[in-house]
Amino acid sequence: MIKIENITKKFGSQIILNNINLNIQDSQKLLIMGQNGAGKSTLMKVILGEIICDNGSISIDGIDPIKDRKNALKYLSFVPQTPPPLRLSVSDLCHYCVSSTKANLNDIISYLKELDLEYKKEYKKPFYKLSGGMKQKVLIALALARESKTIMFDEPTANLDPKAREKFMDILNSKFQSHTLIFISHRVSEVKGIVNRIVEMDLGNIIKDNKANNE
Ligand SMILES: Nc1ncnc2c1ncn2[C@@H]1O[C@H](COP(=O)(O)OP(=O)(O)OP(=O)(O)O)[C@@H](O)[C@H]1O
Ligand SMILES: [Mg+2]
Repeated sequence: MIKIENITKKFGSQIILNNINLNIQDSQKLLIMGQNGAGKSTLMKVILGEIICDNGSISIDGIDPIKDRKNALKYLSFVPQTPPPLRLSVSDLCHYCVSSTKANLNDIISYLKELDLEYKKEYKKPFYKLSGGMKQKVLIALALARESKTIMFDEPTANLDPKAREKFMDILNSKFQSHTLIFISHRVSEVKGIVNRIVEMDLGNIIKDNKANNE
């Protein structure tokens, strides 16, 4: 379970997250939506322990990701909105993931194939030289292959072609029903069939939550 309690984050004088409270239960399928700049990606970075807040606390299965990031993130994978500009080759990146997590190379390659990316054709390329959609496919395949209990996706399909988008949803529907899935997306219709909770943010506040009284 992810517990977000009274989280406030300011950048300069601007309040980006304004006293956010949110509990995400195990195996929940949550969509976080809201306009550009609402604070969605910042909230994801807070969960990942990448951002130190001005107030409040966060725990992932009882572990604080700021104090013990390694253990807090042991069973959590994520696909960031902006792929990092890694100079590693696709192959080195996949092998790094295999050596540092429970992921298996065959699973990564098989997810890539399902998303229509031929590992054999692309494995030597530096990650940063891939197209936007190809980067997203690699990051999705790595996150799925880890089979973490919780997976967070920040606009995962923004650069995917329609076929890959559909395939991505098929994979989640068929193999990840028992996982906790957190989506940040503007494409509500795309994830509507998967999510069972929708939270809407605006200017650093949660303004709607269809499960607010049911946590
Ligand atoms: N490192 C930073 N320094 C200063 N301001 C920041 C920083 N990161 C985010 N912000 C500001 O925080 C606000 C929320 O940004 P955030 O990326 O969380 O929005 P978002 O809801 O994910 O938007 P989008 O839908 O465009 O991805 C924006 O005003 C942004 O400029
Ligand atoms: Mg964002």
